[in-house]
Amino acid sequence: MSEIVINGNKKLSGKIVIQGAKNSVLPVLAGTLLCEGESVIHNCPNISDVESSVKILQALGCSCKIEGNSITVNAQGVNNYVIPDNLMREMRSSVMFLGAILGRMGKAVISSPGGCELGPRPIDLHIFALKKLGAKIHEEHGNLYCEAPNGLVGTDIHLSFPSVGATENIILAAVKAKGTTVIHNAAREPEISDLGDFLNSAGARICGCGSDTIYINGVEKIKPTEHTIIPDRIVATTYMSCAAVTGSDIVLENVMPSHMVSILSVFRESGCEINANGKTLYLKSPKKLFRVPTVRSLVYPGFPTDAGPLIISMLSRADGTCVFVENIFENRFRYVDELNRLGSKVKVEGKIAVIEGVSSLSGANCKCTDLRGGAALITAALAAKGETKITEISHILRGYEDIVSNLQSIGADIKMV
Ligand code: EPZ
Repeated sequence: MSEIVINGNKKLSGKIVIQGAKNSVLPVLAGTLLCEGESVIHNCPNISDVESSVKILQALGCSCKIEGNSITVNAQGVNNYVIPDNLMREMRSSVMFLGAILGRMGKAVISSPGGCELGPRPIDLHIFALKKLGAKIHEEHGNLYCEAPNGLVGTDIHLSFPSVGATENIILAAVKAKGTTVIHNAAREPEISDLGDFLNSAGARICGCGSDTIYINGVEKIKPTEHTIIPDRIVATTYMSCAAVTGSDIVLENVMPSHMVSILSVFRESGCEINANGKTLYLKSPKKLFRVPTVRSLVYPGFPTDAGPLIISMLSRADGTCVFVENIFENRFRYVDELNRLGSKVKVEGKIAVIEGVSSLSGANCKCTDLRGGAALITAALAAKGETKITEISHILRGYEDIVSNLQSIGADIKMV
């Protein structure tokens, strides 16, 4: 398996164009199942999670074409409602397809999505909500058998936690349900709004995306459409952390600063100067990052859990001690042991990570434990003196398109071998 080799402690400078959002393209691709005909999705990142999603669509009977960053999905011939076990295992978020398959076929069979590197990833909220919409669901031999023989019926659903995936699953299942569905305590992430925009452009009748109450008025059919995926705010944060940790200045193209308010405020608190003009973001880093006393991950619009590893990696070189409180996932600190091999001093106590700033990091061999934890190792390695070898990089390739060539283009000594 390939590995990434970095010789760090180099200044970076230049411009990177940010890819389409992984966490938006996945539910939108699931949504193409509901459109009987040929939909085209633009600005799709070239990442393995997208490849897995296309394989699932093909297994369900869609014909798909990938041309650069555009994917054409013809869902006319959907004739299957079972996601093969191997494809379910490839990508934890394939549970997203459940609502769309139910909405299109009236039944669905998926294998219970295993946990992932972030801890047990339950889907109780998904199941609760789909049952409320009238689906009959039972689990047997590790599979989830779902059916709604008389179709799904809109209803009021209150989520005990504003789960992103559950909100998306409900929207996808409710688009063609009879009557109106109201989601209370819905997730408010920008990726939810992007999914709503895509479905509405296909003729769905959804309003309230981005707020905590979403209304979906069921329609008979929705037609194929074209849609462009929003920029990936976590990938943008990743490149910003690479610049900040190396005292560099960079320009990011194709970002949506309005999706990153809580993130930008942490960078500014650490001494970075950030200016935005439309979809271009300019970041100037201080010689030495200031300490940021406390950062807490929260649901949107709070600081996103996915940006946590990147911020912790960057603040490992801050002038003082910072505290990061992880409120979303149980097990989001698995990468910390690997990060500390590079000389950072991060101590984890339950959901709290205490980051004691160090004056320098030094290269070492380390391995990825998860997607964002892997990206955090790259961030630290870019600041570390000497050579760092990062293995198990398939985690990183799940969510980052061209990360090695992008970093090379701004002067990093990085290669994939
Ligand atoms: C989405 O995961 C993202 N993935 C995650 O990004 C992101 O970290 C997360 O939202 C939070 O923003 C995709 O969009 C593909 P949740 P999701 O349902 O939908 C608990 C990345 O790095 N929960 O909001 O799985 C769950 O255990 C990935 O790109 C239940 O208890 O997140 C977790 O503690 C990582 N029961 C919390 O809610 C459920 O039925 C947040 O989960 C569902 C979730």
